[in-house]
Amino acid sequence: MTTLSIPSASPARPSNPRAAEPSTAVVGLQWGDEGKGKVIDLLAPRYGAVVRYNGGANAGHSVVIEGKRHALHLMPSGVFHPGVQSVIGNGVVIDPEVLLREIDQITTLTGTAPALAVSDRAHVVMPWHKVEDAIRETLLATPASGDGSGEGDRSIGTTKRGIGPAYADKAHRAPAVRVGDLLRPASLRTKIERVADLKNRSLAPLAGPGFAPFDGAAIAAQYAHLGERLRPFVTDTLHLLHGIVGAGRAVLFEGANATLLDVDHGTFPFVTSSSCSTLGIPVGTGLPCRHVQRVVGVMKAYSTRVGGGPFPTELKDATGDRIRERGREYGTTTGRPRRCGWLDLVALRYTTMLNGATGLAIMLLDVLAGLPEIKVCTAYEIGGERVDRFPPDAEPLALARPVFETLAGFDGDLTVARTLADLPAGARRYVEFIERALGVPAEVVSVGPDRAQTIVQGE
Ligand code: GDP
Ligand code: IMO
Ligand code: MG
Repeated sequence: MTTLSIPSASPARPSNPRAAEPSTAVVGLQWGDEGKGKVIDLLAPRYGAVVRYNGGANAGHSVVIEGKRHALHLMPSGVFHPGVQSVIGNGVVIDPEVLLREIDQITTLTGTAPALAVSDRAHVVMPWHKVEDAIRETLLATPASGDGSGEGDRSIGTTKRGIGPAYADKAHRAPAVRVGDLLRPASLRTKIERVADLKNRSLAPLAGPGFAPFDGAAIAAQYAHLGERLRPFVTDTLHLLHGIVGAGRAVLFEGANATLLDVDHGTFPFVTSSSCSTLGIPVGTGLPCRHVQRVVGVMKAYSTRVGGGPFPTELKDATGDRIRERGREYGTTTGRPRRCGWLDLVALRYTTMLNGATGLAIMLLDVLAGLPEIKVCTAYEIGGERVDRFPPDAEPLALARPVFETLAGFDGDLTVARTLADLPAGARRYVEFIERALGVPAEVVSVGPDRAQTIVQGE
């Protein structure tokens, strides 16, 4: 039997540097577009880095500074704060053209290139991914003749940014291109030509007549050029992030898409293809779970959804239209009108629990002002039974009928409020109602799109 000996002159015991600010995640608790971009921009100055860990250019995060709107798809939303490192982690799928456009926009705006680090292990969205995304959506929208299911359009309503096919190729392993590959022009050409050939053979029969085959050599040259432009930003972000937290700085994790669109825990199959909740952070960044110390769950004061899938509290009436117009509920990425509905506490209890939310950011409260009454869904009825637990599978969820509690509305111009005391009493009661129902305090209440139109609790 061997015994372990402890060297007498052992090096100093490792210390455990504690950042003054805990590392924090900002995640959407609904179906996206909750206002995550605004919250990230607000919190970013307290952190050493802002890190995207999932999704791709399907995200559209708005930051409004002094009335000017900036829409970001891949660039982390802390980019407007000099001194904050922006990081795109390995879990993101990157469309190089979109990212380079955003780098150029920020460079023009600020006069310097952003402090951006892009993971060499992030996967690249290639031209065939966008084509495949569109083909699959068309096929799902038009069921084969003789399909006796009686169901019509079964498309997901994707953003057609190639997200699903890019993540599928990552899982398939072989025919995939990562950011690091773009920096090796010698092997890139062979690799891309091989993938292009495979895609031409697999997609042509799906696409039918009119399919234009991919020219592997031309695409290889184009992506080698894009890779050269990205080269100054590409690094091993895992080591960069470990260095930042090791030096005692906190990081801010920026969730894209949202929990109800999570591929595992969302309203499958009407979801996106990545892990959008806090559970996706370790795998999408390489930082272990213990670095998710605080979780801000971002939610609208009502609900919206873009694309297909069940939405129990949807309002297909004048109230829904009113919310859409007042809230300017049109997609940041695709411009599509968002479906609007009342707040769904059944869904929010589920996503608050799943993410481990320690605080809430309640957004777009101003949009509800002027409504005579506000309804809130507190339970579902499915097949004549009352259900309190959210069924994330789209099939049972499609059968859910909302059970509403009706609250008094509130009026006035909320956009000028800067403390909770400035809010009309009805709006304050609404915030307290949500806090009680979810068992989590509201740390942020947002009353307008601008940075300034915000109430931050405890400040
Ligand atoms: P994200 O994807 O979660 O970052 O959200 P989006 O940027 O796609 O959508 C949120 C929209 O609401 C954007 O147009 C924001 O400018 C806007 N917004 C954010 N907070 C507020 C608010 O408190 N009131 C109003 N009226 N608009 C807001
Ligand atoms: P942000 O980060 C709202 C939705 C799409 C579609 C489904 C799948 O701005 O909140 P995909 O293109 O990902 O394959 O589409 O997911 N979706 C979003 N909806 N906000 C988003 O991102 C979304 N990202 C994806 O509309 O229903
Ligand atoms: Mg958005």
